[in-house]
Amino acid sequence: EIVNVNALEILDSRGNPTIRVNVELASGVRASASVPSGASTGENEALELRDGDQARYGGKGVLQAVANVKERIAPKLIGRNAGDQEGIDRLLIDLDGTPTKANLGANAILGVSMAVARAAASDQGLPLYAYLGGAAAVRLPVPMMNILNGGKHADNSVDFQEFMVMPIGAPTFAKALQYGVETFHALKKILGKQGYATSVGDEGGFAPNLKSNEEACELIIGAIQAAGYVPGVDIALALDPAASSFYENGKYHLTKSGQGVKSSSEMTALYKTWAPKYYLVSLEDGLAENDWEGFREHTAALGYYLQIVGDDIFVTNTKFIARGIEEKTTNAVLIKLNQIGTVTETIEAIKLCRQAGWNYVISHRSGETEDTFLADFAVAMGGGQIKTGSACRSERIAKYNRLLEIEAELGDKAVFQNSFAAK
Ligand code: PGA
Ligand code: ZN
Repeated sequence: EIVNVNALEILDSRGNPTIRVNVELASGVRASASVPSGASTGENEALELRDGDQARYGGKGVLQAVANVKERIAPKLIGRNAGDQEGIDRLLIDLDGTPTKANLGANAILGVSMAVARAAASDQGLPLYAYLGGAAAVRLPVPMMNILNGGKHADNSVDFQEFMVMPIGAPTFAKALQYGVETFHALKKILGKQGYATSVGDEGGFAPNLKSNEEACELIIGAIQAAGYVPGVDIALALDPAASSFYENGKYHLTKSGQGVKSSSEMTALYKTWAPKYYLVSLEDGLAENDWEGFREHTAALGYYLQIVGDDIFVTNTKFIARGIEEKTTNAVLIKLNQIGTVTETIEAIKLCRQAGWNYVISHRSGETEDTFLADFAVAMGGGQIKTGSACRSERIAKYNRLLEIEAELGDKAVFQNSFAAK
């Protein structure tokens, strides 16, 4: 039984305010959860409520969201059973009453939803992954490690946002992480030798001023080899160009790298040449969120050998995912809790993917906190893939460390089997 719900304005990894919610139960259990925040956000994401008071944090304060938790949400939750996640999430959705959670703020609502789940898990003496996923929650995810950052996540000359390594040939999660981390360290050496900067972007990947987007892939392949691994066998590449961020008037503008303006089909043709050359297994947001037509062609051309992941186009919303399944827009979905705003709705989005036989990737945001909810959630949902950043910056590493802990705790029961084994 919930006896108290409280909230606090804290900071995320970019130094922007975000919300932490604390829930207390009659049993004495206390749990908290912190909400992340994106930079290359989809147009249809649930609303992140910010104060807009320019005198504080450039308008980014979240005191209103904090007040909404304390004054409007808390009184409705006191006395309720924390174990009724769905009932509580429905109550929050109804209390808000808008499709984008614009009234109370999706940040306020999600903080409560996550903290309630954590409190209930603790009350039942279960780790969060077991509480949310039951006895079936034994599969560790393959990490997509974003070791080179561009786009809106870095002030450099690279248009594409994320260049990720996926250790698909590793036997365990711990080994996979080691493969990725060693590649990250090898990349640092290579960049340094070539006179490139080794400072990092928002997700902890290097953010050098390269001559082209291609050069990023070439350097990463060199790093995989220098670390002693075989590209395409031990470690494959995954990309998230986040193409909505360079789409304007129906065209893709590769402005940061100076590589010109391209149509949807030209972008798809470009990726087609990249796929074998750069050992690609997964391509997320290769086109923009409103380019449904382009995506259909894109998936028809590439989807039989690549995982085509929709992020901005679906925003973890069953309404858009259902349309995507119907129209064969992609063949996989990126899952972000704060795009939709409750744990229950996020699980519904995942169920829809499972029914369609689509892969799903559990993802962080570029603005994160030390909260590790995501790691447990990825194991609970069992999809076998997580995107949670590079091999540095503690807000990213916290999730990896939690996954190491879960794998060790599961011991012989732990399963590490990637979704690309058959491809
Ligand atoms: P964001 O980026 O968190 O800045 O939106 C992540 C992504 O596009 O996957
Ligand atoms: Zn994305």
